[in-house]
Amino acid sequence: MMRSEILRAGERVRTADAEHCVVSVASYNDRQRNPGGLSMMETRRLCGALGAEVSGVDLSKPLSNTTARDIVGAFHEHLVLVFRGQSLDPAAQLAFTRLFGEPSEHPLRTRANVDGYPEVLVIETRPGRMGARNDYWHSDISHQECPPSASILHSLAVPDGLGDTMFCNMYRAAETLSTGMQRLLDGMEAVHSGEATMRRAEQEEGTDALRIDSVPPPATHPVLRTHPGTGRRALFVNPHFTVSFEGMTQEESAPLLDYLAEHSTRPENVYRHRWAVGDVVIWDNRATMHYAIRDYDDTIHRKHHRTTASGERPV
Ligand code: SIN
Repeated sequence: MMRSEILRAGERVRTADAEHCVVSVASYNDRQRNPGGLSMMETRRLCGALGAEVSGVDLSKPLSNTTARDIVGAFHEHLVLVFRGQSLDPAAQLAFTRLFGEPSEHPLRTRANVDGYPEVLVIETRPGRMGARNDYWHSDISHQECPPSASILHSLAVPDGLGDTMFCNMYRAAETLSTGMQRLLDGMEAVHSGEATMRRAEQEEGTDALRIDSVPPPATHPVLRTHPGTGRRALFVNPHFTVSFEGMTQEESAPLLDYLAEHSTRPENVYRHRWAVGDVVIWDNRATMHYAIRDYDDTIHRKHHRTTASGERPV
């Protein structure tokens, strides 16, 4: 840091390395008052669309209020946060999840959970047994009345250079539509259903997908939703769970849903995460979609623990 004065709220500073910048003035000021003290957190933007790598934080330890506030601030700004080199047991992952909302169990119980931790799902491919597919763009469990605000993956085993996960920015997707299209979508609602997840689980016998016997009724959500933490509007439809626009047939809805999916996932709107063991990646389901690339077979070992934080009814 080149500066030594206390900053005012909202001001930003840069380190000598131009790519790194302090997340919030709070942590910078803490450091000025108390060098080596409360928060050493820094962020580095990962690409133009979304995503930041956060350093200087050990998520297995209790977080100071300042660091917790900085993490939430960075989450709202960047939508996907990557913490490298972490080692979280299930209890510590749940404690971190609570920063974003109460941890929730998967309503369809799609995967096995860690023994004694129903909110921690195990997502795993290991030699001789493929994991279930997640290679479709989606926002987690959007067919719930109150879909999760955030999801967190902690990587425990990673195949070298395989099994990346992609994320796209749904604020930008909304903002880069023409004003005519934004006007058309404003006030429209879409129907989200868990049926596709149930059908996939049936087709995926022998993977880590668990059989799903029934799904709750579909939920209807605004096509443009307002994020409660930022006040920004995000496009909230996804190719996996969104089946139609409210009041329209699936056939009538499909061309526009297809267009919106294609528009949202253009390369310039995507961050592709290459996993390393120890990564903790959190994403905002209210303003992103994600896609797990399946470029591996059952000769590899890929394992993550996944938690989700409860969210609110989209408005
Ligand atoms: C998920 O879609 O929740 C899992 C993503 C992944 O396995 O990379």
